[in-house]
Amino acid sequence: MAESLTIRRPDDWHLHFRDGATMRAVVPHTARQFARAIVMPNLVPPVTTSALAAAYRERIVDAVPVGVDFTPLMTAYLTDQSDADDLAAGFADGVLTAVKLYPAGATTNSAQGVTDIANVMGVLERMAEIGMPLCVHGEVTQADIDIFDREAVFIDRVMQPLVARLPELKIIFEHITTRQAAEFVDASGPNIAATITPQHLHINRNAMLVGGIRPHMYCLPVAKREEHRLALRKAATSGSTKYFLGTDSAPHHKHTKETDCGCAGIFNAPYALESYVTVFDEEGALARFEAFASLNGPRFYGLPANESMITLEKAPVEVPATVGGGEAEIVPFHAGETLSWRLAS
Ligand code: DOR
Ligand code: ZN
Repeated sequence: MAESLTIRRPDDWHLHFRDGATMRAVVPHTARQFARAIVMPNLVPPVTTSALAAAYRERIVDAVPVGVDFTPLMTAYLTDQSDADDLAAGFADGVLTAVKLYPAGATTNSAQGVTDIANVMGVLERMAEIGMPLCVHGEVTQADIDIFDREAVFIDRVMQPLVARLPELKIIFEHITTRQAAEFVDASGPNIAATITPQHLHINRNAMLVGGIRPHMYCLPVAKREEHRLALRKAATSGSTKYFLGTDSAPHHKHTKETDCGCAGIFNAPYALESYVTVFDEEGALARFEAFASLNGPRFYGLPANESMITLEKAPVEVPATVGGGEAEIVPFHAGETLSWRLAS
């Protein structure tokens, strides 16, 4: 009998679906593995209001294969002009699960993000009052800050002062990539948690830059030195309830990454669970995988864990070179590799 692991069905606490044909092509990959996902709002134009989030949710639900149980959890994109009443109403009636803070210019489709945290303090105060979580892309955007330092500098300049000012606000420090971020999360109170992507557990910056430039290994925050990857593996497998699964799966068509100004984002949705469980196996931490994948996230968000179960089994699965992405192909994370775990059934 193959080695296997049966756990509650996981959720993905950070994900990009896009819209239109691309969205319809990628939704089934996530719905195959996850019961719920926190859907990022950085569409063009962004999902800034409860009404836009409700309409986007409908389009996603329509793309879920018949018979598959999957619930998108929606976020609103914070701007300097966000309306606290609208976001609070969206949270109260279940349309919105969280709000997303993109510092303006930090990443893909973030141009309309927040230019200064002071501009949204009223909205954040309201969120703290009502218990609405804030998902944070934690990178500064100042031109004089090196791209590899932008997360660590964000902690000092934005995150620490924000937590000091609004200790009641629930914050998810998303897709952390540094030892400094893990140390910050470990040292913070129970209102601060973090998601970790599969790529930041598997690769360091060499994967992107050694032997040639590899655009499919490029995402934001960018992969850092090996020291940081090891710190993230330690955090994810530590048993701390502050860390949970968030893939940051970010589909970009092949030709938009293989170009002179390639898009940031790694499309890991097709084999996300297989990728994560491989790391937990390598770290001798399979017994802690269920908490990371299926329990810590809902606990932080104040939602019930899923009732249904899944089984992962130790058996090879080959990741294809490309997968369909609607208008064009997308190169998935681990393309051409053989992973040693697969989702049974
Ligand atoms: O690599 C990334 N891709 N990081 C982000 O923050 C955004 C995402 C995207 O939307 O493509
Ligand atoms: Zn993201």
